[in-house]
Amino acid sequence: MSQLIAIAGKGGVGKSTFSALLIRYLLKVDRPILAVDADPNSTLPVMLGLKPGQTIGEVLEEFMSSKLKIPAGMGKQAWLQLRLSQAVAEGKGLDLMVMGRPEGEGCYCSPNAVLREFLDRMRENYKWVVVDNEAGMEHLSRRTEGKIDYLFVVSDPTVKGIRTVKNVMDLIAELKLEIKAKYLVLNKAATMDPKLAGLIAGIGIEHLGELPEDARIGEYDLAEKSLLELPDPSPAVAASENILAKVFVGSEPIKNLAIA
Ligand SMILES: Nc1ncnc2c1ncn2[C@@H]1O[C@H](COP(=O)(O)OP(=O)(O)O)[C@@H](O)[C@H]1O
Ligand SMILES: [Mg+2]
Repeated sequence: MSQLIAIAGKGGVGKSTFSALLIRYLLKVDRPILAVDADPNSTLPVMLGLKPGQTIGEVLEEFMSSKLKIPAGMGKQAWLQLRLSQAVAEGKGLDLMVMGRPEGEGCYCSPNAVLREFLDRMRENYKWVVVDNEAGMEHLSRRTEGKIDYLFVVSDPTVKGIRTVKNVMDLIAELKLEIKAKYLVLNKAATMDPKLAGLIAGIGIEHLGELPEDARIGEYDLAEKSLLELPDPSPAVAASENILAKVFVGSEPIKNLAIA
């Protein structure tokens, strides 16, 4: 069974960027990996250089629509399983599925049951499943039976940002998520301000470290290039490897391994 890693935090703080850097680290250490883009405002495909044909939401919607044409001799459930597996984009040591927009009106009970079975089966094929979440974390509670191995909460280095980290932690408690290890990552942060350090200490989440603002990430965003292709010496890559080596102890990334 794979280890489940979730990334949370408010919009725009760098969840998807951190997800891509984490995936980049894990690709060097231990594969295969399944990336799940659970943010309706999906950006992970470009950041990982993968492009799934359909989102899971679109597959479910198609399944629910009356226009559905199932090939002769195929059961409805089997058809859905097939379409779900076709919605997974395949890369080297890394696959990606995009959840898409939340379900529409009506009862999705039957496709949801198939989806759950599909996700359970998928999890057996990977060492790691990395879920880039939407701010609300609805998917996490609904799709994971509440068990998460690692949670990374990303924030910007501002008082407002750290206060929303507290909200995320409260939401986790409310959702009764069972999480083995929780870490805070400050993004676009150069140094640690003592006031912020004090606020973080009051929240009860381990502060893992900072990722610097990195001009190359902006360039790659403009060029719509995969962050997996960032050169190793890039400041954000180097910083992510340093802080992640503290979490995945004994799993030093192999240098200069072609990962893309
Ligand atoms: N460390 C960084 N250095 C430079 N730009 C960054 C950094 N982290 C994120 N960005 C940029 O900030 C924007 C928001 O990041 P993103 O990862 O999409 O946030 P989220 O997924 O939380 O909404 C993107 O345009 C991204 O390229
Ligand atoms: Mg995002």
